[in-house]
Amino acid sequence: MDEYVVEMRHITKRFPGIVANDDVSISIRKGEVYALLGENGAGKSTLMSMLFGMYEPDKGEIIVNGKPVVFHSSNDAAACNIGMVHQHFKLVDNYTIAENIVLGMEPVKKKFGFLPWVDMREVNKEIQELSQKYHLEVNPTDKIEDVPVSVRQRVEILKMLYRKAEIMIFDEPTAVLTPQEIEYLLEIIDGLRKDGKTVILITHKIEEIKKIADRCAILLRGKLVDILDVKTASVQEMANMMVGREVDFNPYKSPANFGKTILEVDHLTVKNENNFEVVKDVSFSIREGEIFAIAGVSGNGQTEIADAVAGMMKAASGTITLDGKDVTGASIRERAEAGISYIPEDRQGTGVVMDFTLQDNLALREYHKEPFSKKGILSFDKFRSYADELIEKYDIRSGQGRETIVRSMSGGNQQKAIVGREIEEHTPLIIFVQPTRGLDIGAIEMIHKQILKERDRGAAILLISLELDEIMDLADTIGVIYNGQLLQTAPADTMTSHDVGRYMMGVKDA
Ligand SMILES: Nc1ncnc2c1ncn2[C@@H]1O[C@H](COP(=O)(O)OP(=O)(O)O)[C@@H](O)[C@H]1O
Ligand SMILES: [Mg+2]
Repeated sequence: MDEYVVEMRHITKRFPGIVANDDVSISIRKGEVYALLGENGAGKSTLMSMLFGMYEPDKGEIIVNGKPVVFHSSNDAAACNIGMVHQHFKLVDNYTIAENIVLGMEPVKKKFGFLPWVDMREVNKEIQELSQKYHLEVNPTDKIEDVPVSVRQRVEILKMLYRKAEIMIFDEPTAVLTPQEIEYLLEIIDGLRKDGKTVILITHKIEEIKKIADRCAILLRGKLVDILDVKTASVQEMANMMVGREVDFNPYKSPANFGKTILEVDHLTVKNENNFEVVKDVSFSIREGEIFAIAGVSGNGQTEIADAVAGMMKAASGTITLDGKDVTGASIRERAEAGISYIPEDRQGTGVVMDFTLQDNLALREYHKEPFSKKGILSFDKFRSYADELIEKYDIRSGQGRETIVRSMSGGNQQKAIVGREIEEHTPLIIFVQPTRGLDIGAIEMIHKQILKERDRGAAILLISLELDEIMDLADTIGVIYNGQLLQTAPADTMTSHDVGRYMMGVKDA
């Protein structure tokens, strides 16, 4: 007989207008890594929030270590040795790592008989021991605001360990990490399993599940689709179940058909606000019908190249030529009008107007032109039909269709809206920075197809991505950036992902 540490039976949870979990039952064995797979909005976080005591189910029961439990708060869950690392970390910025770890715990000692008091030396020592044991290196006296996101995540894990969690829930832990950091985290999770902990891993990335999980429950629109043994399940099978239809992993890429040069970047150097050279003497060109992808580890200057081409950052030296015209000194608007579309990384900051409707956001690039505007008169019928067309084509999901205020939409759907709006401009040059970051497989497939379609139409495409797979799938030409310099530029079919990976680490002559 199987020994389950957690059983969730017939769990239903409704939010206004939506059944987030619909009669879901899962049972988790001690010491396994159990994955919860599903697209955005499938109900994964909701299900685990109930196990962590943040919501109570409308129906169903939760059994922990064989005993039915009713959690009214996450303290109740913590008392059953359940811990959770949330998608958005819950740390106090101006406290130290050690302070964050003990925060909310019962005071360890009472000094003078009445004052709650924590002996920070002892705490630091205990943290050091935990960090060594689980390879979670931190410096307990560092302030949270001074450490990078990967360290913050380690603090969250340490916090669970410090509270003696045996059942650890990770909600999309890799979304904020670089490929190297992801590898490292998966090793840590493996270490936790070896130590007998039970890990529940929420994700929408199947490769991660393949690497680390023992079993996998798949949720689709609130319902449990199936529970699979990861060893014997194929990636294709998992993807199809997660999306609810057949997923095409390798969208057909037709042979390249390059035309004239559209973008010419010549000896470009860009400095940041501290006068530090973040892009150093970079040269490349992109032809019609060509996808030029810049591969590199985050923070090596790739987004600054995109910003410089689009006009968000100034070139310190060098030139940028668009279709034979020098645009080095042109404004953002002039460049947009000269034929550049830009899908930036910071979508909320520069991509959308959060308090406008979806319809108005979709028309943002078009409203002053025919047929949307004739002699200064706006045609709202056109706005509406255009919005509906894009919503359908790019599968933009929201509560109230085109009338939805963009702020209330999920990040993934905001992103689909921007990508759709910019692609529909059909400009000679399209810049994509991390176009599929955080998206589900279904949405990634759709956006990849659209990018290839634009390439086949004859657009020059600058693709910047941290996902090596995305670059290998789409690029015609790859430039690998390291420390602000293009270390290597070559046709995509002359490099393996292994070669690209080595250049990304700064190894020349890979
Ligand atoms: N607190 C809430 N109030 C209203 N709706 C919510 C709330 N939390 C989640 N939802 C909705 O429930 C559904 C499932 O959400 P969630 O569990 O966060 O999905 P996932 O984690 O799989 O992306 C979504 O449609 C989401 O909008
Ligand atoms: Mg979630």
